[in-house]
Amino acid sequence: MSILIKNGIIITHKDIFNANILIKNKKIHSITREDIEVDIVINAEDKIVMPGIIDSHVHFRQPGGKSEDWESGSKAAIAGGVTTVIDMPNNIPPTTTIDNLIKKKEIIEKSNILVNYGLHFGVTEDNLEEVKKVIGKDLERTLVASAKIFMAKSTGNLLVRNLNVIENVIRNSKMVTVHAEDEEIIEKFPSRPKLAVISAINKLLPFANLGKICILHITSIEEAKLASPFYKEVTPHHLFLNSSILKKLGNYAKVNPPLRDEKDRLSLWEAINNNLIDYIASDHAPHLKEDKEKEDAPSGVPGVETMLPLMINAALNKLISFQRLVELMCYNPSRIFRLKNKGIIEAGADADIVIVDRKIEKKVSADDLHYKCKWTPYEGMYLKGWPIMTIINGEIAYKNGEFFKIKGNEVIYE
Ligand code: DOR
Ligand code: ZN
Repeated sequence: MSILIKNGIIITHKDIFNANILIKNKKIHSITREDIEVDIVINAEDKIVMPGIIDSHVHFRQPGGKSEDWESGSKAAIAGGVTTVIDMPNNIPPTTTIDNLIKKKEIIEKSNILVNYGLHFGVTEDNLEEVKKVIGKDLERTLVASAKIFMAKSTGNLLVRNLNVIENVIRNSKMVTVHAEDEEIIEKFPSRPKLAVISAINKLLPFANLGKICILHITSIEEAKLASPFYKEVTPHHLFLNSSILKKLGNYAKVNPPLRDEKDRLSLWEAINNNLIDYIASDHAPHLKEDKEKEDAPSGVPGVETMLPLMINAALNKLISFQRLVELMCYNPSRIFRLKNKGIIEAGADADIVIVDRKIEKKVSADDLHYKCKWTPYEGMYLKGWPIMTIINGEIAYKNGEFFKIKGNEVIYE
């Protein structure tokens, strides 16, 4: 099947230009000014056409959880312009053995998965041998995107306290992602959450030259500066919400690391625009309302479907340039996690594309979103610029609220 996306405003990490995109055999065949005869013509005049979003930090909860599954998570992703997700290992059972990794893949492959996917592997105090087999430095092709280390307890019970273990994992892995909150500090000084992050980053600094390390969910420019030798991720909730919303949302706004004050939130935008941040990922961490209503509620907020609309709205308000947006949400995550043929619009790349109508303004409402948990911390916010079409592997997967039956593929790591 061939598709021509005509006359769109194409945005890549380095350019903005008008052209047509010819898609053939699941790939971008060429960028052209010509009118070519094809099976499907998509008129993208006055619309933004960009690489599909890569969300390298989601929790789709299967196996083991009830707050999302691969079908609902996929739908939310592609309605939000996300064409590839990389899922975290804090499942039940956790993805910390090769056996559990294989079983998780089987579950995913059997599900109605619409989005392309990859997986992170969980680190425990004693699974270095398994880590080496899935993400080892000398593997030609890794089986996962990273070895994920939880330095603090969060949802699930993955926790690594032993710094020797952390050092060895870094020495032996192609990429390590870290939930950098120091459990010791959280236990000793529960009212000082920022100190917990600073302390965790400080513990990692001596390992900076031993391997590639990515610090997840940075919450202030101070942390970004301290973590300068590492890759750094930022989430939309730390960019768009501050701690004052806890008064309104209570435990619905409870998340690890916690939302910060307005000053820190603004400092993250400064960090983004001063090249101190490498990529944005949602940390989509849905929990059912019945669990969030409990006094001892779990931490996490959903976000995979609202991440792009929030960022497009921010770009329209000049908080960030469109090219930088594409760099942070497509190009960089693809490079950092070694995803073959993703995150770019050029001949030979996978045809994963999102088309955005920058003129559509909509109020965010959980009723319109596709999460199983049926709530969002952005309820009632007006956002301009929404995805109207998402193309995955050269096929239209989503168009104006309608889903088409396609199957997402596992990514290939370079
Ligand atoms: O708030 C969070 N929720 N932070 C995490 O690190 C885990 C996540 C989850 O899985 O619920
Ligand atoms: Zn997470």
